[in-house]
Amino acid sequence: MADVPLGSLDAARPAVPPPETFVAGARHADPGIYDDAEADWVGWWERQAHDLAWQRVWQEPLQWDPPFARWFVGGRLNASVSCLDRHVEAGHGAQVAYHWVGEPGDRRDLTYAELAEEVGRLANVLRGLGVARGDRVAIYLPMLPQLVVAMLACARIGAPHSVVYVGFGAQALADRLVDAGAKVLITADGAHRRGEVLPLKRTADVAMGAAESVRSCLVVRRTNSDVRLMPGRDAWYDEVIGQASPICEPEPMDAEDPLFLLYTSGTTGTPKGIVHRTGGYLTHVAATHRMVFDHDPDRDVFWCAVNLGWITGHSYGVYGPLANRATSVLAEGALDHPSAERTWRIAEVDKVTTLYTTPAVIRALRAAGEDGPEAHDLSRLRLLGSVGEPIEPEVWRWYHEVVGGGRCPIVDTWWQTETGGIMLSPLPAITTVKPGSAMRPLPGLEVSVVDDDGARVERGQAGHLTVTRPWPGMLQTIWGDDERYRRTYWSRFGAEVYATGDRARVDADGDLWLLGRDDEVLKVSGYRLSSAELEAAIVDHRAVAEAAVAGRADPLAGQAIVAFVRLRPGYDRDASTVAAQLRQHVIARFGAIARPETIVIVDDLPKTRSGTIMRRLLEELAEGRTPREISALDDPDLVAHLIEATAEAAGGR
Ligand code: WT7
Repeated sequence: MADVPLGSLDAARPAVPPPETFVAGARHADPGIYDDAEADWVGWWERQAHDLAWQRVWQEPLQWDPPFARWFVGGRLNASVSCLDRHVEAGHGAQVAYHWVGEPGDRRDLTYAELAEEVGRLANVLRGLGVARGDRVAIYLPMLPQLVVAMLACARIGAPHSVVYVGFGAQALADRLVDAGAKVLITADGAHRRGEVLPLKRTADVAMGAAESVRSCLVVRRTNSDVRLMPGRDAWYDEVIGQASPICEPEPMDAEDPLFLLYTSGTTGTPKGIVHRTGGYLTHVAATHRMVFDHDPDRDVFWCAVNLGWITGHSYGVYGPLANRATSVLAEGALDHPSAERTWRIAEVDKVTTLYTTPAVIRALRAAGEDGPEAHDLSRLRLLGSVGEPIEPEVWRWYHEVVGGGRCPIVDTWWQTETGGIMLSPLPAITTVKPGSAMRPLPGLEVSVVDDDGARVERGQAGHLTVTRPWPGMLQTIWGDDERYRRTYWSRFGAEVYATGDRARVDADGDLWLLGRDDEVLKVSGYRLSSAELEAAIVDHRAVAEAAVAGRADPLAGQAIVAFVRLRPGYDRDASTVAAQLRQHVIARFGAIARPETIVIVDDLPKTRSGTIMRRLLEELAEGRTPREISALDDPDLVAHLIEATAEAAGGR
């Protein structure tokens, strides 16, 4: 990567060079890092891997048998040792690992020594419950310190964890428990959410009723909700932890052993259990956390303000920062509840230097207007990050000027659950950034934007974003389904090319602009949802004959869900009542994140003569546009009805 030729930049969006004050204090300010990595990319990743605590060093850095890669073959390590023990042993036991802030305002600081102790205790408890290396443990917890403890306790005994976001409902949780064959579930009595309490244990009870593999359930006390413990299966977390020893021998894991599973949406109704492994994943997230966030453990307070239930939380809320001995902030509840002021107060009180969050959160904070960042001392902030969606130039500018006071670089990081860690991003002390662009691949990585035939597109053109060489954080497979792994990611452009499912444009300088998904995946408030999954949740309702969903651009959520539904005969008389029930049904079954904003009851879904639903047409309707190309439509008379029904539903939502 050469310097960006300033003369060729788009004048309408002036590029922003790294602020001089930032560069002066940066740890990673040498642009030579790109050439250095490129000269021997495998060796470069090996150098990053050496930063972890290995029990036995690998014999071979990479075996690439497309589409299966094995990183650091023969190496042995335990992730919890790299994240905890080695820091305590080096004399940093008293350093705060997490400043935890509860939604009601309670606080707890956890040092590395305390975290290591509690992890040891829980690890012993899990072993006592019969959890052995390779067994899966599901975690359905709000943003509590115990969530981090649970992840690391699993890592300690070599039991892959599967964290399920607490916004998911009973059915979604049950599906994930069953697919992973989870032996133990760790949950809480309830979760605080915007001043209300979510009945977590009750949801978990329903889910466990449908998941035979779950033999034990540990319950963290959080909301003092009334819960029922099933004798022989359930126990209070506090009680069992108190009786366990804090000393627990770490399981010596192969670099290639799975560290965790994380379910994500794809193009079908069944979620995919993305498998990440120990050595490569940890190498990738630790190295990128150092580079992208210019992290210095003796200077920085890092706040990854997203839920740990998603990959961003796993990689930059837990594993990356802990491997780098970071002090992090962990906040329960929404950042704008009871008001956005909460965010700025936490940043001030905990002296946050680095804030990493999603455009959805940034938009919500910006929309809050009052109680703005101006009223707080945010002078410690030195770096801002964005993840999960493209960030609009106006939102970028507000983040830069108002939050960052114009002195903090912004790193717009592109990656996916599947990539494990950041792939495209500026380096904050090196890259002159263009607001809205994720810029370039990080050192050691290689991507290509290709046309439908897999040929690299010219500069100025758009196409499919692909990754053209293996990377250490890459997913190992889809849990229990190697064939789906191959078909989903490594078949469209050949077995050696990873298809991201995203579209991107390469500009005249070779910088990348993400254009959204290629497939039927929606991003609602930063949550990744597939149309197929949503449709399955809707069709599951007895009144529904058929359903199709489309996304509509939304100024806050990014996209909002519009559901087109054909009812079964007999239910079509009281359509508006059914619509309200349907919304509740989807929330209960899938979770509040899947709430359809608009439900359009239609006489029929638009289909081609061969019976395929015309999704393009539904997208146009959802956006409030008049469909242009309807010649493929089996029943052209349907269009007028669809337009009318959509307008009516949108007006009354
Ligand atoms: C999808 C992955 C990356 C962790 C959180 C989301 C979109 C992600 C960006 C960005 C534009 C982005 C892509 C990607 N995306 N980052 N900086 N600019 N789009 O992980 O839930 O697996 O979603 O999010 O479409 O494929 P995820």
